[in-house]
Amino acid sequence: MKSLLNDLLYGGDYNPEQWSPKTWDQDLTFFQAANINSITINVFSWALLQPTEEYYDFSTLDQIIKKYAAAGFKIVLATATAAMPAWMFKKYPEVARVDYQGRRHVFGQRHNFCPNSPNYQRLSQKLVEQLAQRYAKNPAIVVWHINNEYGGYCYCQNCQIAFRQWLKDKYQTTERLNRAWNLNFWGHTIYNWDEIVVPNELGDAFGPENTATAVGGLSLDYQRFQSESLLKLFINEKKIIEKSNPRALITTNFHGTPNPALDYHQWAKYQDVIAYDSYPAYDTPAYQTAFLYDLIRGLKNNQPFMLMESTPSQVNWQAYSPLKRPGQLAAQELQAVAHGADTVQYFQLRQSLGSQEKFHGAVISHANTDQTRVFKEVSHLGQDLKKIASKILHAQIKNQIAIVFDWQNWWACQHIAGITQDLDYQKTVLTYYQAFYQQHLPVDVIGVDADFSQYKLIVAPVLHLVTSGLAQKIGDYVANGGHFLTTYFSGLVNKTDQVYAGGYPGPLKKVLGIWVEETDALLPNHDCPIKFTAGPRIKGTLVCDLIHLKKASSLANYAAEFYQGTPAITENHYGQGTSWYVGSQLDTAGISYLIEYLKQHVSALVPLAAAAKELDITVRYHEKQKYFFILNLSNSVQQLPSTFLNGNFKDLLSSKIVTKSALPAWKVLILQQLN
Ligand code: GLA
Ligand code: ZN
Repeated sequence: MKSLLNDLLYGGDYNPEQWSPKTWDQDLTFFQAANINSITINVFSWALLQPTEEYYDFSTLDQIIKKYAAAGFKIVLATATAAMPAWMFKKYPEVARVDYQGRRHVFGQRHNFCPNSPNYQRLSQKLVEQLAQRYAKNPAIVVWHINNEYGGYCYCQNCQIAFRQWLKDKYQTTERLNRAWNLNFWGHTIYNWDEIVVPNELGDAFGPENTATAVGGLSLDYQRFQSESLLKLFINEKKIIEKSNPRALITTNFHGTPNPALDYHQWAKYQDVIAYDSYPAYDTPAYQTAFLYDLIRGLKNNQPFMLMESTPSQVNWQAYSPLKRPGQLAAQELQAVAHGADTVQYFQLRQSLGSQEKFHGAVISHANTDQTRVFKEVSHLGQDLKKIASKILHAQIKNQIAIVFDWQNWWACQHIAGITQDLDYQKTVLTYYQAFYQQHLPVDVIGVDADFSQYKLIVAPVLHLVTSGLAQKIGDYVANGGHFLTTYFSGLVNKTDQVYAGGYPGPLKKVLGIWVEETDALLPNHDCPIKFTAGPRIKGTLVCDLIHLKKASSLANYAAEFYQGTPAITENHYGQGTSWYVGSQLDTAGISYLIEYLKQHVSALVPLAAAAKELDITVRYHEKQKYFFILNLSNSVQQLPSTFLNGNFKDLLSSKIVTKSALPAWKVLILQQLN
């Protein structure tokens, strides 16, 4: 059993190989002044570590590790396999990916190795063996960071060969594959495994690049296969490190909003701790960032995660990067902590002078001084983190409501051809999330494999792909007293993207007590009014399901169109529990009303505070202590809900009982509930 981090890490990516040893000394002093206790190194150093296939050189890395370890820094050591040296491309061109257009890439960029290239596998593993043998027992290394931001796709010959084998293992016979993918459609029937081709723009491509083909089963399986191919690389590197040190804490950094290429729920099983890189844009609403943190925390059953990268000021790759306003840096970093992070790490500690990231923000900027505004704010946050570290480290988050976000389902949604091009799985989930967030009803974001029984309410919008096992699990959950809500487009296909015959929503019909005969697609900027039997009129958009009640009753009916007066939102009592079906897309206001209704039925739906839209409010529990994070993530003054003004809440940052209701822009309170 591996133990968790025993310190709140504060630091981030540092690229000393871009600087001379004199600068390393200066930086060390800067970091200490900034209250930084950790550095992440060696992320892109493969070319320096291995100038030729036959020769390794660890002298620079040795020196850096020695220097920083001696000064008490905790080191996050990357395995450097994310950017291949130029000689590898020259000697073994097949290490490079082939794109969807069938073009072989050449030397350049990073994150561009073919996961099924035997040479990439061999050489990366050899490098990791060397690193592990050399450093795995070094006590200064607290985390191993494998590769970097795995993602993307390859469509090369090696991948094609490996994919055919993967399919053979899975389906055994071509007849089974033909059936699973419905290949008699358009005469796609295959007789030999070598007739299978990977998705390609000139082949079965259909819809957005990289994802959709005319054969949903192929698209889905190719995404699974690519995600698993990359995962195998991760697992192999991990095993090599563990051979040298079975107790090493090992992770890779997840990224994106989130990353569509990897099934993070599957990947999470192999991470000792989840790590995430967070880069909200200047106009990203705070709830979207909160959603991502909750999703990341949910990957490993709410175990605290590492905020592995974030920018201390600007990034250089978004369309616009305004400066963070005074206080914004701390508030945004603490938002991650509020949602379960046990580290605060930046990209990057020192700003490079050349190449792509020279204008990416850093703790030490081009000015090369500790007198900058950003440096001072970083240093101040470091002090604040020291104050809260012992209380917050390992503190848990336990919520009673869960929203489902599932990669396999996301992929399946991307492959739907029809009936509206505006279906957006992520956006739909976010709309539900936002409604709960704004009411300060904290949620966990979970995958379909999570233990449902820990939740009082599970919301699974657009659960398109439902296996029979999942349908059974949902049925059991509700029968045992759970509350379950789902929407249009749910329960339609099985795990190979084939529709369930016998009426929608397939295997969910029973638990929902309804069946859906047809679905109308609404045009952009059109809506269909929906009237609650005992409540307001709200708007339905995107689609309207034409619902037949079996055992369910109607909570709200359509108020227009030829289906006026028929059910739009239904409720079904099933065993000890209740399920709801929402037949049209609701906006946040509509969902908010629905939540008001749910509150009367699910006793666990008790907000942490009265709705104050601009505030992010969470609770972390440390043994019996409760710590409320109250974040004003806006650039204007907000009001603290009165719940926290009763003299019973002490702010850990100021050590004072809170008395004032005005929260200045970007103000953060971390409140200990006294009794
Ligand atoms: C990613 C990478 C880093 C760096 C940052 C810049 O997160 O992991 O190496 O390029 O983006 O924002
Ligand atoms: Zn490949």
